[in-house]
Amino acid sequence: MNIVIVCCDKNGAIGKNGGIPWTLRSDMKHFKKKTTHEICVMGRKTYESLPTPKLPKRKKIVLSKNKEFSAGESEVYFDFYTFMRYFDPKGKDMYFIGGEEIYRMAIPICDKMFFTEVDAVIQDADAHFPEIDWSEWELVKEKKYEVLYKGDFCFNQYPFSIKEYNRKKI
Ligand SMILES: NC(=O)c1ccc[n+]([C@@H]2O[C@H](COP(=O)([O-])OP(=O)(O)OC[C@H]3O[C@@H](n4cnc5c(N)ncnc54)[C@H](OP(=O)(O)O)[C@@H]3O)[C@@H](O)[C@H]2O)c1
Repeated sequence: MNIVIVCCDKNGAIGKNGGIPWTLRSDMKHFKKKTTHEICVMGRKTYESLPTPKLPKRKKIVLSKNKEFSAGESEVYFDFYTFMRYFDPKGKDMYFIGGEEIYRMAIPICDKMFFTEVDAVIQDADAHFPEIDWSEWELVKEKKYEVLYKGDFCFNQYPFSIKEYNRKKI
């Protein structure tokens, strides 16, 4: 199945200055649990923003239009539609993990979405999740998280909610 996985603020912001503008460790755990042993498809900018080692135990596909670009052990495709046509996921789930440019192309071909909504508004965000027609999606699960600090250690900086949506059958 093709699946979108994203974390947005209340205005759909997903990124700022090439990174993710919050610390939400419970959401990172959720991301890891869902995507481990599956396939992660991402844009070149998101790939470059990831810490090393980059998403261990996952097959990684990176999209770039730059024919000179290589990404270590990850496979690179130079065109989204060529990728969709020729890549064989061999029965695994394909998670489209961002950023904005990749979500724009992937949402129409996805049937499930893990949408984390952060109860915050990030000022001067420069990457956003595309507008969604929510009438096409059915909420099937939701789990809420509160702010959490362990001593001085920030575990979850803001309250948030992980929502699971399925595309409605027509
Ligand atoms: N909150 C979240 O859930 C989340 C998730 C992921 C990322 N992010 C954030 O989002 C931001 C990055 O998003 P972004 O939209 O700027 O970049 P992006 O989508 O990660 O990557 C964009 C790059 O993808 C390549 N690309 C785009 N369309 C393509 C196509 N049709 N065929 C082949 N390659 C294509 C191009 O690479 P070349 O320039 O090399 O040609 C383009 O510059 C960062 O701040 C990141 O931290 C947030």
